[in-house]
Amino acid sequence: MYIAFKEFHSYLAYITLALLLFAIVFNTYYWLKGRLFSKTNKSVALWGLIAVHTQFLAGLILYFLSPLGISNFSADAMKVSITRLYLVEHPLVMLLAIVLITIGYSKANKVISATSKYKTIVIFYSIGLCFILSRIPWSVWV
Ligand code: HEM
Repeated sequence: MYIAFKEFHSYLAYITLALLLFAIVFNTYYWLKGRLFSKTNKSVALWGLIAVHTQFLAGLILYFLSPLGISNFSADAMKVSITRLYLVEHPLVMLLAIVLITIGYSKANKVISATSKYKTIVIFYSIGLCFILSRIPWSVWV
């Protein structure tokens, strides 16, 4: 069960990063071209949103299954940077990123002009993606 979730979380991370990056590049391109905000633009942003939410749920379950998750919580573990990353920094920064991406998606639905929609998605998704990239355990992944 643990291995299955770890693998799922690991592979979904590639898909999540790719979909977020695609949502940013795609909407930036249409924004710069001055095109109308279409259903496709919204769908591309929605796929990025769905991917991060699914990844968050998988991460949450993994947090209770992994030997690097909640079961490893101790004062000593907090003193070591890699164990502190898994225990606190990774989950909290990912949560912050998901909140930002969700706010970006719902704010973009509320504003009227195409420019505001593009701007909101591109800014919120880009900040969220930077947060995610900053707390991926790169040394054990890729
Ligand atoms: C967009 C959100 C997230 C991304 C992109 C992400 C990405 C990753 C990646 C790439 C790894 C390394 C996997 C490997 O070693 O093969 C990992 C490990 C891990 N993540 Fe996440 N994660 C996210 C959210 C979360 C959340 C919200 C939690 C907990 C609440 C979490 C808990 C963990 C744990 C416990 C591990 C270590 C698993 C192990 O090696 O036993 N993740 N994550």
